[in-house]
Amino acid sequence: KISAVIFDLDGVIVSTDEYHYQAWKQISDQENIYFDRAINERLRGVSRMESLDIILSHSDKVYSESEKYLLAQRKNDIYCELLNKLSANDILPGIINLLISLKARDIKIAIGSSSKNTPFILDQIGLATNFDAIADGNSIKNSMPDSEVFLLAAEFLGVQPEECVVIEDAQAGIDAAKAAGMKAVGIGSAAKCFNADMKLNDISNLDIDHLLEVNEIRS
Ligand code: BG6
Ligand code: MG
Repeated sequence: KISAVIFDLDGVIVSTDEYHYQAWKQISDQENIYFDRAINERLRGVSRMESLDIILSHSDKVYSESEKYLLAQRKNDIYCELLNKLSANDILPGIINLLISLKARDIKIAIGSSSKNTPFILDQIGLATNFDAIADGNSIKNSMPDSEVFLLAAEFLGVQPEECVVIEDAQAGIDAAKAAGMKAVGIGSAAKCFNADMKLNDISNLDIDHLLEVNEIRS
């Protein structure tokens, strides 16, 4: 029986894709590295340093660890500046209703995100105090597809992994949820994931009874 829902943050609660894209684009332009939206798609759910490695794989230059650290820091400074524009208006359709419905049914809710900017983003969109637990990029060693962030969220909630369903927009996140022994709902681009238990284009199409039974539905 499902007793908790773990939400990924970027791409599920709020769309930060464009800001990540703009920040990485500025860094790649400065470094003369080819970067486009298709490459940006591959960064979905991937940690900051691993995202940087994907971007640098399009360059001939060999970067030292300290150069990489500085580039990641520069990208994050640009990204955080852009995040200042985020507000509750950027919460994706269907999320608020879903959170209210889950609370009404006594289902626990948590965030499980690779992002180290999770506290800042939740603050910007006004949801900093709405979750029963938050596991994020600051509290884990191994990023998705490792199961660590979702197992930590379940531990914080005091529930077993098999009682959890994860909502994700990235293949790496669906893999992480399955590796944790949880049910996985793929939304947006993750609706194509072969191993998602349920596939949806959009949260606003979600039927909460289906979610809690995790029957396979496709839209
Ligand atoms: C994930 C995003 O949620 O967080 C990735 O989908 C991002 O694109 C990752 O790279 C790490 O984010 P941050 O905010 O710690 O740089
Ligand atoms: Mg995501």
